[in-house]
Amino acid sequence: MKSTFASLSALVLLASSAYSKTVFSAFSVNGVYQGLGVGVRVPTSNNPITDLTSDNLICNTGFEQPVSDVVVKVPAGSSVTASFHHTSAGYVGPDPADPIDPTDKGPLTAYLAAVPSATQTDVTGLKWFKIWQDGFTVPGYQWGSDRLFINGGNATFTIPSCIASGQYLLRVEDISLQMASSSPGAQFFMSCAQIEVTGGGTATPQTVSIPGVYTASSPGIIVPNVYAVESYTVPGPAVFTC
Ligand SMILES: *[C@@H]1O[C@H](CO)[C@@H](O)[C@H](O)[C@H]1NC(C)=O
Repeated sequence: MKSTFASLSALVLLASSAYSKTVFSAFSVNGVYQGLGVGVRVPTSNNPITDLTSDNLICNTGFEQPVSDVVVKVPAGSSVTASFHHTSAGYVGPDPADPIDPTDKGPLTAYLAAVPSATQTDVTGLKWFKIWQDGFTVPGYQWGSDRLFINGGNATFTIPSCIASGQYLLRVEDISLQMASSSPGAQFFMSCAQIEVTGGGTATPQTVSIPGVYTASSPGIIVPNVYAVESYTVPGPAVFTC
């Protein structure tokens, strides 16, 4: 009886934490908060994308309407803070699973793609480069997701000072790995922000395609036990630096 109860509770626990849930819904530029959904294509659902070949892996799908038509000016070299919360509603009060269930573990990444217009609907075929990642650190045995939780959902990184001025999509992503012992299993949570980089330079970063950048055989996509990791390679290309 006791063991039946124990395994039942384990099952319930597994079921409830099988999907982490988090949404990137707002951002700040040099500490100036832009507002919920302002310049961000916010998905209505906080469910993960798990298909590595899906176009939904680019900027998510099923957006809050109307989608923002704002393009936020971001000086090259400035600090951007992406804010994640449990649902698309942003922060709505104390919630043990806000910004993310703390038992959900994995890295975060940020990518940029130059676009003719940051409000364009079509996001296929873009060329992305990675500007930031937060993986697993020893000592501390902390994941990027742990730091996201500690920082109240804020992920802060720098827009490279040397990239060309112009319009970009900024894709910020949390990857949850507690179901990633096989593929598909890794859970991807991302939104795209609409920005215009000003005062940039002439660098031409090497780019990757999304989808395509992650496959079942990429390092960091299959993780046998996320709670027993000793070292970890964040999937995708190296971070571009000036
Ligand atoms: C997260 O960022 C928002 C917007 O910049 C800020 O108001 C809030 O204080 C930050 N939270 C933490 C825990 O740093």
